[in-house]
Amino acid sequence: MTQTTPPAATTSSLRTLRGMTLAMSVLAVLQAVLGFMLAAGVDGIRDVHGWSGYALFIVSIVAAVFAWKYSRENAHKGVFYHATSIPVMGLLQIGLAEMGAETIHIVLGVAIAVAVIGLWTMLRRH
Ligand code: HEM
Repeated sequence: MTQTTPPAATTSSLRTLRGMTLAMSVLAVLQAVLGFMLAAGVDGIRDVHGWSGYALFIVSIVAAVFAWKYSRENAHKGVFYHATSIPVMGLLQIGLAEMGAETIHIVLGVAIAVAVIGLWTMLRRH
């Protein structure tokens, strides 16, 4: 007879983390759309892209704190490490933008979007 492990209870930190990851996914996709428009030479959106980049960075720091809380409740260290990689990449991303390193900034921007959406799909299985 096979035994199945029941899924862990949905805790409030997991619910909050899911909500924050959804917000980060929206911001990361918005950043990619605005960023590619900027790279294509569209005027007047640089400030919006900059401010939503800072918003994404701040939300990702708070999300990492909830991921840490969730990992303590359930010993899911992977969620914590994955969530922590996002503000680390975000800080690097903002630094690259300030330095004007456009090509690396675009590559890292795509990586951030993939990481955020990856975290979202990971959390759906928790
Ligand atoms: C695929 C995703 C992205 C693309 C294609 C992209 C593209 C760009 C481009 C072309 C610029 C102008 C760079 C320059 O003038 O040298 C820029 C600026 C900037 N980007 Fe991004 N970006 C992306 C994602 C992000 C993310 C995820 C963040 C933050 C976490 C971010 C933060 C910024 C900031 C703060 C600036 C400076 C804005 C300013 O000059 O006021 N970007 N981006």
